[in-house]
Amino acid sequence: MDTALTRLVGVRYPIVQTGMGWVAGPRLVSAAANAGALGILASATMSPERLRSAVREVASRTEAPFGVNLRADAGDAGERVRIIVEEGVRVASFALAPKPELISRLKDAGVVVIPSVGARRHAEKVAGWGADAVVVQGGEGGGHTGEVATTVLLPQVVDAVDIPVVAAGGFHDGRGLVAALAYGAAGIAMGTRFLLTSDSTVPAAVKARYLAAAASDVAVTTAVDGLPHRMLRSELVASLERSGRAAALVRAVRHAAAFRRLSGLGWARMVRDGRAMRRGKGLSWSQVLLAANTPMLLKASMVDGRTDTGVMASGQVAGVIDDLPSCAELVERIMAEAAAALDRMPGGRTVG
Ligand SMILES: Cc1cc2nc3c(=O)[nH]c(=O)nc-3n(C[C@H](O)[C@H](O)[C@H](O)COP(=O)(O)O)c2cc1C
Repeated sequence: MDTALTRLVGVRYPIVQTGMGWVAGPRLVSAAANAGALGILASATMSPERLRSAVREVASRTEAPFGVNLRADAGDAGERVRIIVEEGVRVASFALAPKPELISRLKDAGVVVIPSVGARRHAEKVAGWGADAVVVQGGEGGGHTGEVATTVLLPQVVDAVDIPVVAAGGFHDGRGLVAALAYGAAGIAMGTRFLLTSDSTVPAAVKARYLAAAASDVAVTTAVDGLPHRMLRSELVASLERSGRAAALVRAVRHAAAFRRLSGLGWARMVRDGRAMRRGKGLSWSQVLLAANTPMLLKASMVDGRTDTGVMASGQVAGVIDDLPSCAELVERIMAEAAAALDRMPGGRTVG
């Protein structure tokens, strides 16, 4: 299936496996890439050294193009961009709108720039700054998310920008792919669906929690880091919601110290990052501090398998997923379902 996305990045299918902290590592990304999708490494939870070795690991396992997701507001974004360029990574994906200078640096080096956004005005902004395409995530999507549903946001963004738009939030099958293309998207991006594959390194006990969840078990909370964050309901989330601001801040200080050790960032760099986050997102210092909770609470579940001490970011789509295919099986199935969905349309494939 040939779309503006497959042509732009050179993948076989218009499907993206998104960057998910602690989840989208070399194994998942190379499996997604070998399956014909665009795999994206999540780098916000990696040190720059680890990022370089992870990129090399993916490159050693696949000939296919892949991407790296990074935080545009990270103090070391420049260093990460250098690694992406030096290692010949095809796509740079951003969790927030990257600055125009960063976009041009990447584009000058031949890297395709695809920021993720959750609102029309952000899509317009990054398109104006030269982004090559944009991933737009509706409110049902996993992790940090907005309020507007994909079905409302996606056509708005498609109408507002003239670069390829990739639809995210709530996708898991071929019907969804066809629906997204009908809205004018150039493909779909999926997080939760790829987390729930046999290629994902998330511990089995954690995957079991996702498989058991109903759509109504996936809720948005601001209790983890002060920002709307979609995740599985759990005892921990309930207790974070009960515990109040002061306890959350104490926890955040502990997590900031742990994240500093893991990420290899010094305190001075973390304070600089904090300042940048404060300016970039208009946050208070306590909100900046709370941001340290997310990577550590996510690591506890996604790496250590602790469903009691970790949070499980998830899209609502977890409620309709009940198997763990390999990436290859998943992608082939989605393409077969898409073909069947097109055939079922009145007039079959001749429509349009
Ligand atoms: C466990 C998990 C971790 C995530 N971490 C990140 C991240 O580090 N950076 C990012 O840009 N998006 C992150 N996201 C959001 C996803 O990349 C993606 O946009 C979202 O999952 C799409 O919605 P879906 O889950 O309905 O497919 C995360 C999502 C999940 C479920």
